[in-house]
Amino acid sequence: MLIESLKLRDFRNYGELEMSPHPGINILFGQNGSGKTNLLEAVHYCALGRSHRTSQDREVVRKGAEMAAVGVQLRKNGVRTDVQVKLTPGEIRKKAIFVDRKRASRLSELMGHVQCVIFSPEDLMLVKEGPSIRRRYLDMMLSQLSTSYFTALQQYQKALDQRNAMLREAKKGQRLDHVMLDAFEEAMAIPCGTIIPLRRRMVQHTAFVAGEKYESISGRPHEVFSMTYDCCMADTEDIVSFAKDAWKKSRQEDVLKGSTSFGVHREDIALTLNEREMKVFASQGQIRTAALSMKLAQLEVFRGETGEAPILLLDDVMSELDMTRRTHLLEEIHGVQTFITCTDESDLDGCKERRSYQVSMSRDGYARLRENSSGEDFAAYQDSLDDLDFD
Ligand SMILES: Nc1ncnc2c1ncn2[C@@H]1O[C@H](COP(=O)(O)OP(=O)(O)O)[C@@H](O)[C@H]1O
Ligand SMILES: [Mg+2]
Repeated sequence: MLIESLKLRDFRNYGELEMSPHPGINILFGQNGSGKTNLLEAVHYCALGRSHRTSQDREVVRKGAEMAAVGVQLRKNGVRTDVQVKLTPGEIRKKAIFVDRKRASRLSELMGHVQCVIFSPEDLMLVKEGPSIRRRYLDMMLSQLSTSYFTALQQYQKALDQRNAMLREAKKGQRLDHVMLDAFEEAMAIPCGTIIPLRRRMVQHTAFVAGEKYESISGRPHEVFSMTYDCCMADTEDIVSFAKDAWKKSRQEDVLKGSTSFGVHREDIALTLNEREMKVFASQGQIRTAALSMKLAQLEVFRGETGEAPILLLDDVMSELDMTRRTHLLEEIHGVQTFITCTDESDLDGCKERRSYQVSMSRDGYARLRENSSGEDFAAYQDSLDDLDFD
């Protein structure tokens, strides 16, 4: 997959930007706080309609602006697609998605056009932190590959929020409406029938690839890294009826807690090294290798499932990696369109098929992007907003 052009308007510290990235490696270098990560975030927005670092959409709208827009023109299996996301926090329908200039009626229609994998220093949290980070890893991967997964997850979350709201009211003394609860639990159980099998398959597939990556990076065949799906039910159960039963039985207990204790929103991926829990036993080096292996596995799974490499976003990871890990990463990105941020361009000496851009912040606070070889300025903020043909 190839991004042929990338457009931003009033996104973070960009006034307007239109660039045609290199099909190979695009290096973004510049001082801290200049706008390098913001550009990667814009690509992520086109893929998933959300940021990778905040759940508050309005944060990405440039201070002083009312609307932010990001868009890409991409080529995939020889077909060109135009994807745009517009965000207007002041409006009721805050997010507007356009695919080939037609407004989509749902966010799910955005999924699957742009696929991206992002590497960042926070990836270590995949191993060190709690289950929600690993669920997000899984959800991001599956949402980009399967619209029905994304839709099922949205339906589940909506019904879960409704059940939780009712539990909280009951905790305060309101009578439990069991008929309504039946309906919410039914609405949660049906999407589980989609979510659980897809998670099962995805973890199995990813674990296999990640195990191989771990072995090749560590060079230690006796260290076995595994990922296991920690599902809320055994795989012999009938998913929908088991889930409904579990929620019905736990109603009184859940009222005391004011929340739902059983379900796919509590699942995890267990990470072990030689069958010992990584969070407890692993060294810093082993944690780094495991996190990198999980991300490299994601890249390979995408490639396998779609027949095309996703877009790779590497945010400040090069300086964090030692030579062995860096070499493994650089080998994998051969032939993959990649955006790399770094503070020092020399971190990437030896990379071929590349183009470098210097990112800086102009005195008026706007990000500027200057192509290093041609000296062409992309994001000097001019008063030519009309030139950009966002719909
Ligand atoms: N909504 C916004 N409006 C204007 N500027 C913003 C907004 N959000 C972030 N910024 C600015 O973007 C810069 C951070 O950009 P970032 O891409 O994270 O930097 P880096 O180059 O270090 O990766 C900061 O200067 C911050 O003030
Ligand atoms: Mg950054």
